[in-house]
Amino acid sequence: MASSYSSSSSSSLLPSPRNPGPFGHKQRKNFFFPEGKTEFNHGSYGTFPRSVQDNMMKWHNLAEQNPDRWVRLDLKPALRKVRSQLAEFMNCSTDELALVQNTTTGVNAVLRSLEFVPGDRILQLSTGYINVDRTVHYVCDTHKDVEIIEVPVVMPMSDQEIVYQIEKAVQEHLAKNDGTRIRLAVIDWISSVPAVVHPVKALVDMLKSYGILVLVDGAHAIGQVPVDLTYLNADFVITNCHKWLYSVRGSAVLYVPKRHQHLIHPTSIQGDYKGGFEMEFSWNGTMDYSTILSIEGALEFRKQYGEKAIINYMHKLAIQGGKIMAEILGTNVLTPHDQQVGSMFNVRLPIKNINHPKIQTPDYLIRLLLEKYNLYSPSYTHGGYFWTRVSAQIYLEIEDFVHLANVWKEVIEELNAEE
Ligand SMILES: Cc1ncc(COP(=O)(O)O)c(C=O)c1O
Repeated sequence: MASSYSSSSSSSLLPSPRNPGPFGHKQRKNFFFPEGKTEFNHGSYGTFPRSVQDNMMKWHNLAEQNPDRWVRLDLKPALRKVRSQLAEFMNCSTDELALVQNTTTGVNAVLRSLEFVPGDRILQLSTGYINVDRTVHYVCDTHKDVEIIEVPVVMPMSDQEIVYQIEKAVQEHLAKNDGTRIRLAVIDWISSVPAVVHPVKALVDMLKSYGILVLVDGAHAIGQVPVDLTYLNADFVITNCHKWLYSVRGSAVLYVPKRHQHLIHPTSIQGDYKGGFEMEFSWNGTMDYSTILSIEGALEFRKQYGEKAIINYMHKLAIQGGKIMAEILGTNVLTPHDQQVGSMFNVRLPIKNINHPKIQTPDYLIRLLLEKYNLYSPSYTHGGYFWTRVSAQIYLEIEDFVHLANVWKEVIEELNAEE
């Protein structure tokens, strides 16, 4: 599996931020943004094209026209069809996939199904997502002598350093020889803040060579980077379709290979308990399944442009956007290695005091950016500096990042002047 679709020999034939082909501002008409609103935070909650909403409404209407027929006869085949489309997209078997509402639900299904015993350890990274981290804590709190081994990740680090640090933690644990074992490792495919594409295949292979089960939090993976689950060969993978794939919010997919399916149950147990993986995950109680089924519409939307074209456009825009924003702000991007960038980049904000009371005040910057400037990119501290995470997307062009950089420049200059 290529880590990226981009290759220098063919790059001139591919859409680029300067020559965007079908992408850039002409895509705005396919999305819902009103005039004057530019979206820089696709990574948090995603958003979907109008045609995907039409697809969702198709399912919604089918359900309302005949609720009994829908639930009792048509829903399960519809879910199976979407799973088979996703299986083709991610190179795995339909039977290995379950549709769930989001990554939080998928991670909970895995972590709360596995039977941990005293002496089990769960390895995770300091940059893991809060919901995942809290779920791991919950598992430890509710099991006797199950503890966390947290590996500190402070970027910038090369891929080799990331693998090295995690392997070092595994070896240090083994050297203690205290009768405990690392049962499971939870690693990000693409972490949230900072946004970093991890060397996921190397990590899975290394951790599995120590007999450790690997749960990959791929919340940001599908639609942002090529995903080949058979090649990856992880034990569990969860990925949100409502972020980068463009389906409606509340749609994600959990991969559990056959060898582990007897271990895993959905977060909400229902009447099909012990009915097998497919049955248990195909009914979640009464709810609206049209968001999950809108994955069909998302895949249709993407097909008209091709995966390579979409991913390469976003990636190149992220690389160039990062450079231009760093230049305007007089700073740098966090991940100078291009393979650690998917469609999101982290650019340093030149604040003099990272403890400035206003940036410590919840919602201050959120309100300022949304209410005064009608835009938003999340900010956070990492490694002693203050950063913003910016998402590139097919509806953006390089000039948008110039605007965002100038807004942040103004905001930070005002804060610095107060010091
Ligand atoms: C790395 C990572 N994991 C998990 C999640 C949780 O995703 P969701 O809110 O869809 O459950 C997110 C959300 O942004 C994330 O960035």
